[in-house]
Amino acid sequence: MGSSDRLAIVTGTSSGIGAALATALLADDWTVVGMARRDAGIEHPLYSHIAVDLGDIDGLKRVAVNDLRPLATDARWERVALVNNAAISGGKHGLEGTDPDELAHLLIVNTVSPIYLMGFIAGTVLPAVALRIVNISSGAAVRAFPGLGDYCTSKAALRMAGMVMAAEFESDKRPGGLRTNAAVFSYEPGVVDTPMQTASRSKSLEEFPWGQPFKDFKEQGLLEQPEDVIGEVTEFISGDGQDAFVERRFGG
Ligand SMILES: NC(=O)c1ccc[n+]([C@@H]2O[C@H](COP(=O)([O-])OP(=O)(O)OC[C@H]3O[C@@H](n4cnc5c(N)ncnc54)[C@H](OP(=O)(O)O)[C@@H]3O)[C@@H](O)[C@H]2O)c1
Repeated sequence: MGSSDRLAIVTGTSSGIGAALATALLADDWTVVGMARRDAGIEHPLYSHIAVDLGDIDGLKRVAVNDLRPLATDARWERVALVNNAAISGGKHGLEGTDPDELAHLLIVNTVSPIYLMGFIAGTVLPAVALRIVNISSGAAVRAFPGLGDYCTSKAALRMAGMVMAAEFESDKRPGGLRTNAAVFSYEPGVVDTPMQTASRSKSLEEFPWGQPFKDFKEQGLLEQPEDVIGEVTEFISGDGQDAFVERRFGG
């Protein structure tokens, strides 16, 4: 690990938006700790990787206590960011086909683990350190897309949890007192050319009758590249003076 004074913990660095974000932060001299099941294949002196399954709560708790706590409390950091980026896209069937085990797993990966990480990091990072939390959201957090009920639900809940976290930062009832210089960003990256999009357009319309928009995104050239949608995230976590909760969508 190198000598920079800014730490970013980024989930889902083995693919897509998370990989692009980690690469951009490393180029800007952030120390980056990536978390995913697969290796990220990033060779950089400021990068280290924690292999963890966000669907395994006990495993994540062990990582938080054994790896993240000593790291996040290191006195060298002037700024710590958590980017909850990792997610899965869901069963791609209507809610009438809900499999409760599959739904519970998706909610653990997309909602429970990110909320746990938000709370853990907010409660661990020293009060004098600038704290920035980013939850990668989706249009599906605020609009009802048929066939994406599990994913919509998971992103809506994460968005609200970010709002509550920010309200707690600003509450004088917060154990430990107000958390100053802390802010949460809920960011919709738009439609991005990643393996998640590939999976979403790969099912036949018999399997996923609501899948045509995903095929159209590709055919009509509407997909953004991951490198092109991360600027607002790097700007937010590097910046000062934001409101405790900020929400934006790529491109406006
Ligand atoms: N692509 C889009 O159009 C789009 C649109 C709106 C929002 N988003 C959001 O953007 C974020 C990134 O998505 P992406 O498009 O970059 O997808 P992606 O290429 O499929 O990457 C997903 C990342 O999440 C990690 N991940 C998934 N399940 C995990 C688990 N159980 N434990 C640990 N890590 C796990 C994956 O790592 P491993 O497989 O190695 O574990 C991978 O690094 C997600 O929150 C997604 O909802 C994407």
